[in-house]
Amino acid sequence: MFDTYDDYAEAANNEKEHYVYSRGTNPTVQIAEKMIAALEGGAACKCFSSGMAAISAALMSSLSAGDHLILVGHIYETSVTLVKYLTKFNINYTIVHSTSTEAVAEAVIPQTRAILMESPTSFTFDIVNIPEITSLCKAKGICTIIDNSWATPLFQKPLEWGVDIVVHSASKYLGGHNDLVAGAVIASKEIMNRIFSKEYELIGGSLAAFEAWLLIRGLRTLPLRMEAHQRNALVVAQFLSEHPAIARVNHPGLPAHPQYELACKQLRGYAGLFSFELKDSAYEGIRRVINKLRLIRIGVSWGSVESQLISPNYGYNKQDLKNQHMPQSLSVWL
Ligand SMILES: Cc1ncc(COP(=O)(O)O)c(C=O)c1O
Repeated sequence: MFDTYDDYAEAANNEKEHYVYSRGTNPTVQIAEKMIAALEGGAACKCFSSGMAAISAALMSSLSAGDHLILVGHIYETSVTLVKYLTKFNINYTIVHSTSTEAVAEAVIPQTRAILMESPTSFTFDIVNIPEITSLCKAKGICTIIDNSWATPLFQKPLEWGVDIVVHSASKYLGGHNDLVAGAVIASKEIMNRIFSKEYELIGGSLAAFEAWLLIRGLRTLPLRMEAHQRNALVVAQFLSEHPAIARVNHPGLPAHPQYELACKQLRGYAGLFSFELKDSAYEGIRRVINKLRLIRIGVSWGSVESQLISPNYGYNKQDLKNQHMPQSLSVWL
């Protein structure tokens, strides 16, 4: 509420700095945004009602009709579905089924305007050489977007390597309790001002104040939780890697990981989510193992205090593989 019409007019002229309407700016949401921007070392942050709303905003702000986008490696499946949806607006894409910088460079065409990456990648936990990709993109005027949900800003700060936009599913580690769905975009003031007036306020996927309060609560224990996730997951990953029934463990913190050296350079720590492949990787074998679990529950949202596991590449009780480029792995988070 405003005391005078002049006060209102001044606030409405700059909604980024004033509380006019919560679809734009809200004091509780703003506290969460300041905390996340500080953690990522970014100039500004906006919080969204989900990670997908944040990813949509980042993609839509950097792409227009006729543009081309590159997806690097195994990206979270719903983000890939979103990118397929964007073809309706004449935005085209190429999925590079590898994290090699050379393969990404080969996929660049004159219309390429953005690159979406995750490092480590979803389900396969391959590492993208982030400094190499950003220098390739800077030279060609391509916007780099990274989903940093897995590492959190505690273990990886992509803005330091010149990434343009960092996105988060704050439903995961940032929230940390499986009781909220939220997202965040962190970037320069210039990019965030653009996103605020278009993809944030117009599309309206803003975070509610109560969810922001839950998020602030989660952020307060982020360092303690991440230490525990890292410790627990490494013990179990090590155990599984020595187990005779296991074909392979995909955890970037194990020295046997093919990109272990790059992981050590880029990551300051390891989250609790990794995957493993059974020697008996047929549907029945996977089903038997999952149904025998005692302490680890079956579920889909990682990043909370519960230990869970899912086999992402088999559909709901269907035997056909969802994604031919993804191994029949089990993703576990501890
Ligand atoms: C890597 C990654 N990014 C983004 C998302 C989407 O986030 P949200 O569920 O908050 O929309 C998920 C969800 O599982 C995810 O795993």
